[in-house]
Amino acid sequence: MFKQAASPNLFSLVLIALLAGPALAEGPGQFAVSSADALATKAGMEIMAAGGNAFDAAVTVSAVLAVVEPASSGIGGGGFWLLHQAESDRSIMIDGRETAPADAHRDMFLDEDGQVNRDLAINGALAAGIPGAPAAWVHLAERYGSLPLADLLEPAIRLAERGFEVDQKYQTLLNFRAHIMLQWPETAAIFMPDGEVPALGTVIRQPELARTLRAVAEQGFDGFYRGEVAERLVNGVRAEGGIWTLDDLAGYEVVEREPIRIRYRDYELITASPPSSGGIAIAQVLNIIQPWELSELDRVERVHLLAEAMRRAYRDRALYLGDPDYVEIPTDMLLSPHYAAGLRASLRMDRALPSAALAADPTLTAESDNTTHFSLLDADGNLVSGTLTINLPYGAAYAPPGTGVLLNNEMDDFSAAPGEPNAYGLIGFSANAIEPGKRMLSSMSPTIVKGPDRVAVLGTPGGSRIITMVLLGLLDFIDGNGPESWVSLPRFHHQYQPDEILLERGALEDEEIQALRQLGHEVSVRARPWGNMHGVMWDQASDTVKAAHDPRWQSGGAETGRSN
Ligand code: GLY
Repeated sequence: MFKQAASPNLFSLVLIALLAGPALAEGPGQFAVSSADALATKAGMEIMAAGGNAFDAAVTVSAVLAVVEPASSGIGGGGFWLLHQAESDRSIMIDGRETAPADAHRDMFLDEDGQVNRDLAINGALAAGIPGAPAAWVHLAERYGSLPLADLLEPAIRLAERGFEVDQKYQTLLNFRAHIMLQWPETAAIFMPDGEVPALGTVIRQPELARTLRAVAEQGFDGFYRGEVAERLVNGVRAEGGIWTLDDLAGYEVVEREPIRIRYRDYELITASPPSSGGIAIAQVLNIIQPWELSELDRVERVHLLAEAMRRAYRDRALYLGDPDYVEIPTDMLLSPHYAAGLRASLRMDRALPSAALAADPTLTAESDNTTHFSLLDADGNLVSGTLTINLPYGAAYAPPGTGVLLNNEMDDFSAAPGEPNAYGLIGFSANAIEPGKRMLSSMSPTIVKGPDRVAVLGTPGGSRIITMVLLGLLDFIDGNGPESWVSLPRFHHQYQPDEILLERGALEDEEIQALRQLGHEVSVRARPWGNMHGVMWDQASDTVKAAHDPRWQSGGAETGRSN
């Protein structure tokens, strides 16, 4: 049910000790939650007001998000929970990522002509990995929480029973997936009660999900991974062409991993380690840009520099990253300042380097554009940054009958075939090929940044753009700004292939875009904004705690409170 990842080598331990920022033993006496849904934020705040710690609140917020934001995460999905324990000054990444079933194999989504069957890869039972979320909730509660699991899950159970009201995000994201979900009338009956995308304010009740949640509340791990719920899940998956077995479920293990930690200026960055690609990629960008004083650059120079660093980090992501329990990742090399200096050697401020000129198979790993995030801190200074997913909006769009468990379609985060694009036009590579039991590569990047007297907790959904959004957010924090600024920043992104800078509309003036084009960049302005960032900040100097949610969606909630 739980395993500890291999200990880091001596070099890493010494490095971590040297990098350790200020301990957070003196708590702020205040607590805060920012999440993608106001109901989840409120539930997390109530748990902490009732004496629960940040880890208790993380379970509650995750479980409520699973109920009220079914497009983005869920009990049928997975995630990474980055914890910081104030008392011991210890940071841990709880890896509740989905795993490939034992009968999965490299070519499982290929047809007889060797072409990827996109329908199978993203829709229905075969697309689903073995969920990690419920095991992670149980693990968090048992090892780090202070309240009974049943109390922590009660708000989610209540909301599943009584229902919640459809909002704009629910509608928008369901519009992408409704035609698929209608293939499974029992699933559609839950999320589209009248057979169509429901009107704003429609109440969505999930009594079967409430029963499944109650089984977890009463029996812990076994309530989901063994017994009646497990049998229903396996029967439902196999009836629709899936390959799950009872052994796959019973054998699921949460893994505790060392986060990636690096120093940038006066700040210590603590972020997601593989099987997330996020932490290494962010660290590489920061290492590459170390010699520049960003505040001395104009906007075009800054976007150019960061895009060039992103290009190089995403090339390495494609080449080297996968599940660390299956592939050898050269982490020390990728994080080394000397390696960054090598990558910098070809970086010119007066010209873009075409991605084709950076030696590599132009390969990126499949992933989606949907997911969710929450950030929180408690009165003692414990921190949690959690990024959770079921992959595409509404995951595989199928819930095995009698369970209320909407399955993820995380198998599409593997590379189904070398060089074949996924739902988002991204292509994959052998380090991330499908293997039984393996975790698919992710971009989820829950992050904590500790400075001399300020601490930030942040993260966002957004597929491959998660990494660059978190990077821009943490640089803004280091610039001295608060969470309301990080979450609303205009965004830009480069991911090596396709070889272009993506901009949110309004991120740059027309003449700045022209200047980037003159440097040799392809620039593409996207009409739709991206991401949904949630951040909290503790300013130890002024003894203030702030929380902010992304203004791009109205449904988010950010609150602060003071302990009695
Ligand atoms: N499914 C999105 C990610 O893990 O990056």
